[in-house]
Amino acid sequence: MTALLNRQIVLARRPAGVPVPGDFRIVESTVPDIQDGEVLIRHAYLGLAPAARLRMSETRSYRDPLALGDVVYGQGCGVVVQSRKPGFEEGDAVMSISGGWQDYSVSKGAGLDRIDTAVAPPTVWLGALGTSGMTAWIGLLQIGRARPGDTVVVSAASGGVGSVVGQIAKLKGCRAVGIAGGEAKVRHVVDDLGFDACVDYRAPGFADALQRACPGGIDVYFENVGGAVRDAVWPLMNTQGRIVVCGLIAEYNDGQLAGPGWFQILAKRLELRGFIMSDHASLRPEFVAEMGAWYAAGKITVKEDISHGLEAVVPAFIGMLQGRNFGKTIVAL
Ligand SMILES: NC(=O)c1ccc[n+]([C@@H]2O[C@H](COP(=O)([O-])OP(=O)(O)OC[C@H]3O[C@@H](n4cnc5c(N)ncnc54)[C@H](OP(=O)(O)O)[C@@H]3O)[C@@H](O)[C@H]2O)c1
Repeated sequence: MTALLNRQIVLARRPAGVPVPGDFRIVESTVPDIQDGEVLIRHAYLGLAPAARLRMSETRSYRDPLALGDVVYGQGCGVVVQSRKPGFEEGDAVMSISGGWQDYSVSKGAGLDRIDTAVAPPTVWLGALGTSGMTAWIGLLQIGRARPGDTVVVSAASGGVGSVVGQIAKLKGCRAVGIAGGEAKVRHVVDDLGFDACVDYRAPGFADALQRACPGGIDVYFENVGGAVRDAVWPLMNTQGRIVVCGLIAEYNDGQLAGPGWFQILAKRLELRGFIMSDHASLRPEFVAEMGAWYAAGKITVKEDISHGLEAVVPAFIGMLQGRNFGKTIVAL
């Protein structure tokens, strides 16, 4: 094969805040010969994703950071031009989850899928049928457990993930409400994508408008942005609602991701779930049986802070709120 020229976009400098063109550099190199078990792909399209920004910072997010000089991480869709890997042949249309921002990529097969362009054009395999769509589908149905009749709110509603979230929500019998920036996006989300409503987070009175769009509150919030948008969602959440922490694009540039905050939930796939004990009253016999046995066997240590007399109730209560109790606060009458 004659030598092929590969143009690659590499990280030249770590962005400070919002990336600028000078953070990147285009380099040219010859496409290497592939080895056994490898596939050479010529990219026809690259799918850009906000998460690429995370890898440009020095601190580890949920993926390792890029080194300076690395090709920027991203998805690529194209055609196999050479294959030494069983299952892939020259001419196959493929999608590579880690093709990178370059003309050609070499893959050992991880995250490389053949795509059927009779089903949908390659660009759709980077979007609704690619990682964006699958993110929406998993997030809404597996993590958010959306059910018919639920009100589903999604931020970045006109984007790759958000646009699919709302459409799946509709297909599953939910009420879909989008949040997007600007009038044109808001109109598109309702008129073209078929959401029930969409609210412009940049317009004055956003929080009130969101409330009007969700008269029955919110059962599932699909979080794509974070920041001020999320603040307006909180008070509208219904009891036992679910928040799917998918992305926090409003925070990716602020350099604070390693600290306390929502990014820890996202990156570590944390589960946060409130509960009220009395909702589980039916479990009391099971609890008493288990705890009673532990107590009887001396496996549970108790410490009690006992005051005496009715007059002691108020001071004991106030003291408890200030940490002056030591153990379970009890008043003996
Ligand atoms: N957890 C996962 O596995 C996973 C996988 C894929 C994507 N994601 C996340 O999903 C989210 C959407 O990704 P996408 O690829 O579909 O991108 P996208 O929604 O197509 O594009 C990003 C959109 O975010 C909105 N945005 C940007 N800055 C914002 C800000 N400061 N406040 C509010 N909105 C802002 C913009 O829409 P407006 O003009 O409407 O503001 C922009 O169009 C991202 O957070 C991404 O990281 C997560």
